[in-house]
Amino acid sequence: MTKSENNLTQVNEPLITFDQKTQVFHLHNKHLSYLLSIDEGGILSHLYFGRRIRNYHGQRRSPRRDRGFSGNLPGTTDRTYSLDSLLREYSGKGDGDFRTPALVVRQADGSHTIFLTYRSHQIVSGKPSLEGLPAAYVETDEEAQTLIVTLEDEVSSLRVDLFYTIYRDRNVVARSVKIKNTGRTTIHLEKVASMQMDFNNRPLDVISLPGAHANERHQQREAVGFGIKEFSSSRGTTSHQMNSFIALCDPDTNEFHGEVYGFSFVYSGNHKESVEMDQFRQTRVTVGINDDQFDWQLTPNESFQAPEVLMVYSNHGLNGMSQTFHHLLRERIARGKNKYRERPIVINNWEATFFDFNESKLKKIVDEAKNVGIEMFVLDDGWFGHRDNDDSSLGDWQVFEKKFPNGLRRFSDYVHQQGMKMGIWFEPEMISYDSDLYRQHPDYLLKVPGRKPTPSRDQYVLDMGRQEVRDNIFNQMKQLLQTENIDYVKWDMNRHLTDVYSTVLPAERQGETLHRYVLGLYELLEKLTTKFPNILWEGCSGGGGRIDAGFMYYMPQSWASDNTDAIARLTIQYGTSLAYPISSMTAHVSESPNQQTGRATPLKTRADVAMSGVFGYELDLTKMTAMEKMAIKKQVTLYKEIRPVIQYGNFIRLINPNQNNRCAWIFVAPDKKEAVAFSFHVLSSAQPTFDVLRLAGLDSDRNYQNVATGKVIGGDELMNTGFYEKIDNFDFSSHLYHFKVVTV
Ligand code: GLA
Repeated sequence: MTKSENNLTQVNEPLITFDQKTQVFHLHNKHLSYLLSIDEGGILSHLYFGRRIRNYHGQRRSPRRDRGFSGNLPGTTDRTYSLDSLLREYSGKGDGDFRTPALVVRQADGSHTIFLTYRSHQIVSGKPSLEGLPAAYVETDEEAQTLIVTLEDEVSSLRVDLFYTIYRDRNVVARSVKIKNTGRTTIHLEKVASMQMDFNNRPLDVISLPGAHANERHQQREAVGFGIKEFSSSRGTTSHQMNSFIALCDPDTNEFHGEVYGFSFVYSGNHKESVEMDQFRQTRVTVGINDDQFDWQLTPNESFQAPEVLMVYSNHGLNGMSQTFHHLLRERIARGKNKYRERPIVINNWEATFFDFNESKLKKIVDEAKNVGIEMFVLDDGWFGHRDNDDSSLGDWQVFEKKFPNGLRRFSDYVHQQGMKMGIWFEPEMISYDSDLYRQHPDYLLKVPGRKPTPSRDQYVLDMGRQEVRDNIFNQMKQLLQTENIDYVKWDMNRHLTDVYSTVLPAERQGETLHRYVLGLYELLEKLTTKFPNILWEGCSGGGGRIDAGFMYYMPQSWASDNTDAIARLTIQYGTSLAYPISSMTAHVSESPNQQTGRATPLKTRADVAMSGVFGYELDLTKMTAMEKMAIKKQVTLYKEIRPVIQYGNFIRLINPNQNNRCAWIFVAPDKKEAVAFSFHVLSSAQPTFDVLRLAGLDSDRNYQNVATGKVIGGDELMNTGFYEKIDNFDFSSHLYHFKVVTV
């Protein structure tokens, strides 16, 4: 029951129903339906996921046919019923279904066969939380309902709880899995996917977000073909190389039209999204923890909770899917006081000074930043231990006296006296050989006995699965954050995990090390973010190496890439926006020529790209000319004005930079009364085309005034007719169009 606005109590429609006669579960809201059923022999079969169906009449039961080389149910003689051809909800191994399994179990006798059948189910209101793991949440139980179907392998007494949560007002179904060993023998989980989705025979494309350090999340789209295609990370973390998000869509789906299914994994470690088209052109998707180096021992009565996958359905193209993810991640993944707060404009000293700074040098930057209206100073790497370059001091989170002879508090007070906030950089999961932490605890890092661990950026990874390691880091950070008056923390992670071995685990549990690392990390993040609720936390991993829905549960924003070149950022930010909200994507104006690409771009273009995210600067303001500083002051003023629309409006991609010499996107206020569009032209030409820009997301029945020119144009005209853009006779140009509704 909910109270409606006029205070009348109304009964909410149930979101999940079970038809006893047909044995069909129907999860539905006003946008979508998800149908599954208990099939013959207690097999849980998949029927449908897509646009809402009012009443299901049973047309999608899988047809029966005797297929060569496809096994049948044990103990039966029906040759037409085969698990190999059925659309299923969650498959094991060894039961005649030869496709990618969701679950792989090594039984006590060494066998891998498991036969999962329906045992019971429950429908509960709200959404249960996942112990020790981030997950989408509800604010009231009326917002969602959850179906929990319990499957069992009778022989081993292994139980599998499948969780399906449907939200009332979102195009989302969240899925997760919990495994319980109710038998008498110890078993090993070799693979636990968090979900499986079988599509019937239809042509599909798969979209993924591959990349590299300083080159993250480029949209890749390809046709699903026979065989298995895997998108994964075995680097111990989400990774720059392959993000933990995929989408499947019809071949003709574009940004505005067509069906698309998005899968976002709420997890920050190894992941695997696999897509397999089988012999009958049916496609199976599984998403979960990567089974590479995974082996979890489950003794009798122990349970294993697999992380969550957020599944979004849209029949309004890729933009429709992205908007659902943006709202969901912003409103029901991100938590804490800063989740809806406008994020401050920062100046970060990394690309301005690298390690070469001291208090007086930084104060000059702070003074300049204050003059242009910047709101926060972020002290990046190099303020701790005796760190003058990147080969020492990680693990020693005490202030470097040489750089701050009067203590950090004096500097942070100075920043605050200028009316600005103070942020600081940490890399809490790492250790340098040259550190007091290593000298005191040489066993704290991940390393295999008898082997020299692999260095990367001259640093090593702490075993976050160990309580004493986490406590040490927590206490050091707590001490610093309590005494130095800090408003923001940038949580960095600058290498991937090798030498995966934990000195506190026995040999038969070494396959748990990587997941225990992530669980330990989450515990530490929970503790710190709860202890310091006023701090704005920003994730980072050499730029965007750990942008995922799991990390966003603790930190509402993340540094999108170490590549600050405006043109490179177009494709990075375009790709990132597919699955992640703009309020989570930080972007800075840096110097030109750019330090990563050597490309020279206009200051305006750099600002327009950075203003399309959570805005800031990362350059030495003391080296800028008076004209440049004036321009920056104007940019800062403008961003403050458009910030609510940028960070909390609806974001729509208009022109894809991967296929064009241009790129465009628009931010529209939720009430459609204001909009900001950006358009970028990459290379200029002696024979330029006359480019029309057509906007989207506006109100067709209202008129909008261009704030810069005063011209009034109808929303319908802006979206359909569009307008010709001014042609610039130079490379890398950009345009910003700010519109406000007028009543004339
Ligand atoms: C990573 C981050 C950068 C910067 C450096 C400091 O690369 O992504 O922004 O903080 O570390 O070492």
